[in-house]
Amino acid sequence: MNSNPFAQSTPIIKRRENPMGKYEHLDTQDLLQAVKQSAHSPHRGDLDMLLKLFLDRYNDRQKELDNLNQDLADRIEIEVNLSKTNQKRYEQQAKMAAMGEMMDAVAHQWKQPLNALSMMGELLLDDYENDLVDKAYIENLLQDSQIQIDHMVNTLNEFRNFFRPKQEKENFGIKRCIQSVMLLVKDEFIKNNINISIQNEDELLLYGIENEFKHLVLNIINNAKDAFNERNIKERNIFIDFYIKNDFIYIDIKDSAGGISLHVIDDIFKPEVTTKEEGTGIGLYMSSQIAQKLNGTLSVKNIDNGACFSLKVPSKINS
Ligand SMILES: Nc1ncnc2c1ncn2[C@@H]1O[C@H](COP(=O)(O)OP(=O)(O)O)[C@@H](O)[C@H]1O
Ligand SMILES: [Mg+2]
Repeated sequence: MNSNPFAQSTPIIKRRENPMGKYEHLDTQDLLQAVKQSAHSPHRGDLDMLLKLFLDRYNDRQKELDNLNQDLADRIEIEVNLSKTNQKRYEQQAKMAAMGEMMDAVAHQWKQPLNALSMMGELLLDDYENDLVDKAYIENLLQDSQIQIDHMVNTLNEFRNFFRPKQEKENFGIKRCIQSVMLLVKDEFIKNNINISIQNEDELLLYGIENEFKHLVLNIINNAKDAFNERNIKERNIFIDFYIKNDFIYIDIKDSAGGISLHVIDDIFKPEVTTKEEGTGIGLYMSSQIAQKLNGTLSVKNIDNGACFSLKVPSKINS
């Protein structure tokens, strides 16, 4: 048997240990080393297994990454929705606040003509009893009452224009717009002893949504009114000035109400920043948003005896 010359070359079948188990615990660096070594090894099967291990690990990581990305995308969507909801809420609050301020203005504007009409009624009865009423008297009375009614209708129309805004952008006159806001708050500001004056002779045009600009002006002058009253200021002036400088249109609104408190001055354009008990802190936030829609910025600085709000918009788009 021993002399059989073929005995040596009979293939020997050995059971190999399970290399998968041998490699599984290795970290990536050691795995890489094993791949290099097995590339020269006669056991080609090891290389396949090592590569499979690599691939499995890669797929696991990829899955983890995909999950993380999905988580991130979900979180971003939640945040975006939240910020959209907040934005809507601020807009709604701003509308309500502006509506309240406008209702106040209308109520003040209506008080005087309503009083006048009621007095005319009383007078009519008196004069009738004293036999003073003839056709001319009635015609006069009708004319007088019509004037009062017209005044009320005008105020109401102005009010409705504010809240049924035309949403298209167009060119509008800065001065004309400010004057129309002034007309609306006239009685209220007279009652509060506040003088508002526009410093300019000439008109300048802005391109944007007219009513939004009016709201911006209204917010700023109403804040000045609040500051005058809170601080019991005697000299109550608001000066409005607009001009072109270095390709920008500037609209400055200055008051003499003592200036912005230093602890809020850096934050007043953020939502819900207010120093007032009943304040919403929305007015200036919305005003700065309106400035952005005009491609501009709204800023503030304290001057000698008050605050100066400045709206700056590029004049190129606005001519
Ligand atoms: N002309 C001003 N003078 C002094 N402080 C002002 C003036 N305008 C705004 N402020 C300050 O900025 C804050 C934010 O104003 P705003 O956003 O309109 O909210 P609100 O009027 O509801 O407080 C006010 O509470 C006030 O402290
Ligand atoms: Mg305000």
